Amino acid sequence: MRIYQEKDYNAMSRRAASVIAAQVVSKPDCVLGLATGSTPVGTYQQLIQWCKQGDLSFAQVHSVNLDEYYGLSPEHDQSYRYFMQTNLFDHVDIKPENTNVPSGLAAEPAEECARYEDVVKGLGYADLQLLGLGRNGHIGFNEPCDEFPLATHLVDLTESTIEANARFFASADDVPKQALTMGIGTIMKARKILIVASGADKADAVWKAFCGPITPEVPASILQLHPDVTLVGDGSALARLMEDKA
Ligand code: F6R
Repeated sequence: MRIYQEKDYNAMSRRAASVIAAQVVSKPDCVLGLATGSTPVGTYQQLIQWCKQGDLSFAQVHSVNLDEYYGLSPEHDQSYRYFMQTNLFDHVDIKPENTNVPSGLAAEPAEECARYEDVVKGLGYADLQLLGLGRNGHIGFNEPCDEFPLATHLVDLTESTIEANARFFASADDVPKQALTMGIGTIMKARKILIVASGADKADAVWKAFCGPITPEVPASILQLHPDVTLVGDGSALARLMEDKA
């Protein structure tokens, strides 16, 4: 496992973007697994800048996003499809048809989950999967539970996640209660994992994920079993982990 403790959010974003850029440069037709949330926004801004400068091209890249709220349309400004369009896809040369996000409007979520799992499998799974980390240790929307879910599935969001995401909605009542998410098995099939964490409120989750027991109660702890993980964080998110490793 590689750990980069960067001094602040901007440095963290630049480091994470450089890991993704290295993947794209070394394999221009790679499959990138992408995440939403606050943490990767700066990473995407850096990638956009390099793309606009002509230093990086996504023309041959395929992307597969981790998750989508169930019940939100792609045009809803809090849907993850909308997030990806506005924070990355609309500003780089990725082909729209090469981008994949689960459909939040599927009438039969189980069918949509199976279809999405087939899409990711058909692409040969991600060469590099970018992950954020929930304060409760979730990755994608794989919430703490009794066993690691394998494939893409419909999940009930926990109160902690609804509360954490309420900042993006008018109120906690407006946060969708369910989401479609890649499973832990889908994520673990990525050849490389890049996980980003920022802020003191992630310090415990980072520590539990990488120093605690491997348990579905902390879904990210499964990453201890992945052979190629890069963790990029700012000082406060990695503070407890680095204390332990010192
Ligand atoms: C988003 C996702 C989530 C977030 C996590 C952290 O696609 O899958 O697991 O990565 O909730 O979110 P932020 O970065 O907003 O703290």
